[in-house]
Amino acid sequence: MPRDRLVVVLITSRPLDEYCALFGLSRTALRALDGPVLDCPGGAAALVAEARELGCTVLAADPVYARPAAELLDRAERARGAMAVAMATAPHRYQPARYRPYERYLRSWDRARRLFAADRAAHPADYVAAALPALPFADGSFALTLSSYLLFAYPELFPPAAQLAALAELVRVTDRAGTVLVHPLHDALGRRSPHLPQLREALGRRGISSELRMHRVPGDGRRRFVLALTRPPRYRPCHD
Ligand SMILES: C[S@@+](CC[C@H](N)C(=O)[O-])C[C@H]1O[C@@H](n2cnc3c(N)ncnc32)[C@H](O)[C@@H]1O
Repeated sequence: MPRDRLVVVLITSRPLDEYCALFGLSRTALRALDGPVLDCPGGAAALVAEARELGCTVLAADPVYARPAAELLDRAERARGAMAVAMATAPHRYQPARYRPYERYLRSWDRARRLFAADRAAHPADYVAAALPALPFADGSFALTLSSYLLFAYPELFPPAAQLAALAELVRVTDRAGTVLVHPLHDALGRRSPHLPQLREALGRRGISSELRMHRVPGDGRRRFVLALTRPPRYRPCHD
């Protein structure tokens, strides 16, 4: 990447329903979990707030939580604006509006942002200021770890070695019986990461199992892929 090109990471505010659609999850599956959930990066999403209502224990981690709340929310509102422009100018990158009218979709982000702001004010300890690839959680802390719109969405910030370190860290903090789910596997222009096969091999050498899970998007039925990582019993952290 040219040194003078600044990469701006959007602070997005997705609701729980969108998380479920992205990862192929359901409220029933979340309720049935027997351990905590981690959302990393949490951004200004409503996952913690809404999953708490389901009875889940959920933490979000994101470096932006070190910033003042007003600044974070201002950036999240600007991300909503950027998304509105992107949907209007490059509609081919998004689900057709006849299945998901854009303005209704963005209003779901507005609601999620409000839920996030109220929940974070009420439960500040559940929003941890931390950045991959070093999270301040003990090994095996979470039954389910979700990571959306970061590691493959911003390849300029996460080249292959950084992706590997971040994924290994997400696996470290996840219980041996648990799973790490990552989506999307493509960048902002919809280009699938060309390094995915090598990355999965490198994960395999660390004893981390990876699987590409596919589900159909409700509406247009297009295919959506999620990278699922598990840590078999013989896992040993190593550094390469
Ligand atoms: C596009 S948002 C995704 C938020 C949420 N997961 C979602 O899907 O709406 C990307 C987030 O990644 C966070 N981020 C940037 N660098 C990070 C890092 N090294 N570790 C964890 N989060 C990071 C940003 O602060 C931002 O909130």
